[in-house]
Amino acid sequence: MLNGKRVLLIIGGGIAAYKTPELVRLIRKAGGHVRVILTKAASEFVTPLTLASLTGEKVHEALFSLTDEIEMGHIELSRSADLLVVAPATADLMAKAAHGLANDLASTTLLATDKPVLMAPAMNVRMWLHPATQRNLATLRADGVSFVGPDEGDMACGEYGPGRMAEPAAILAAIEAHVARDTAPKPLAGKHVLITAGPTHEPIDPVRYIANRSSGKQGYALAEAAREAGARVTLVSGPGTLPAPIGIRTIRVETAREMDEAVEQALPADIAIFAAAVADWRVADESKEKRKKDGNAIPPLQLTENPDILARIARHATQRPRLVVGFAAETEKVLEHAQAKFARKGCDLLVANDVSPASGVMGGDRNRVHLVSPEGVESLPDMTKNDVATALIARFADALARRG
Ligand code: CTP
Repeated sequence: MLNGKRVLLIIGGGIAAYKTPELVRLIRKAGGHVRVILTKAASEFVTPLTLASLTGEKVHEALFSLTDEIEMGHIELSRSADLLVVAPATADLMAKAAHGLANDLASTTLLATDKPVLMAPAMNVRMWLHPATQRNLATLRADGVSFVGPDEGDMACGEYGPGRMAEPAAILAAIEAHVARDTAPKPLAGKHVLITAGPTHEPIDPVRYIANRSSGKQGYALAEAAREAGARVTLVSGPGTLPAPIGIRTIRVETAREMDEAVEQALPADIAIFAAAVADWRVADESKEKRKKDGNAIPPLQLTENPDILARIARHATQRPRLVVGFAAETEKVLEHAQAKFARKGCDLLVANDVSPASGVMGGDRNRVHLVSPEGVESLPDMTKNDVATALIARFADALARRG
């Protein structure tokens, strides 16, 4: 239910605009208010009169309208909304929004808003698949815009493929999901959560390094779950291919020593979560030049120990976070090793998982974890890494609250 939430619906000029009266009807039935901005092209497909009757409000069309600016200017339009919905989001509107163009009321409002934006794209399949549109999609996603659809199917232009606007019921469901996220309790509001994630790379020489198979997915998922719980998040990430999560300060490092330094710089924190697979050792005699094969002697690699970041922070003399969480990646005797590690590292909670090749955890999308605490062990079911993250963050928030 939308409980009086105010939706600003921007209707772009595509054939799918004919479905927007139904969308307006559904939003109102779910208890939401709707105001409409119609682009010039959209008014060829759906009339302002229809939308005004359905919303009970004036429909806004022109950027430079004296009466509109006096009654409700374009800035006020976005200010007075809880959520902006663009449906249909045409290739043109997406391009304008991605590039920050502002030459009509719809694009100006999108540039002027600081409210969440949901887009329901609709266009010919070739236009959708065109690299330009896909680039714009990636830019908008990185800017925090959410998307629903497009669906795949027969198109008005006679082609088949992705490009049909999501059905009004699906758009309503996406709006409701947004509202539910917005109104969900924020147990970590005002807290700073520091998370390490990913592998580290330890150089052998300028072209070679020692690494491990960690993808960083679980750590990144934890960062996003902490953000959803209202926290300010700092993510210290080893090398990897994952994009920096939106709204999260992400510091990229290569080596364990750089990670250690970045963690220290990021203090103070309320919670510190050490999900990174830090290399235990680095090469002692890192070569400044590329090592060469010289005859038949195979060069030995002399290793030396890296700083144990978790153990150091757990015993920090001045800035120990109130809750310190370690991870244990094990390939056998998972619980036995985890409990020993829990005792050794000085952390408050420890998350243990099985990373043996058969488990598929390293690099995969699923995980099965055991939460070790002074009270005992809680084993969570096999879930996606996102669901594991949400479940763990809820427990960490509880544990922090109990510490007062
Ligand atoms: N860790 C760390 N710094 C290190 C090594 C590990 O912060 N130099 C952290 C990891 O992020 C994780 C926990 O310590 O939270 C355990 O890491 P793991 O590699 O499983 O443990 P190790 O200390 O390496 O123990 P072992 O070699 O016995 O498995």
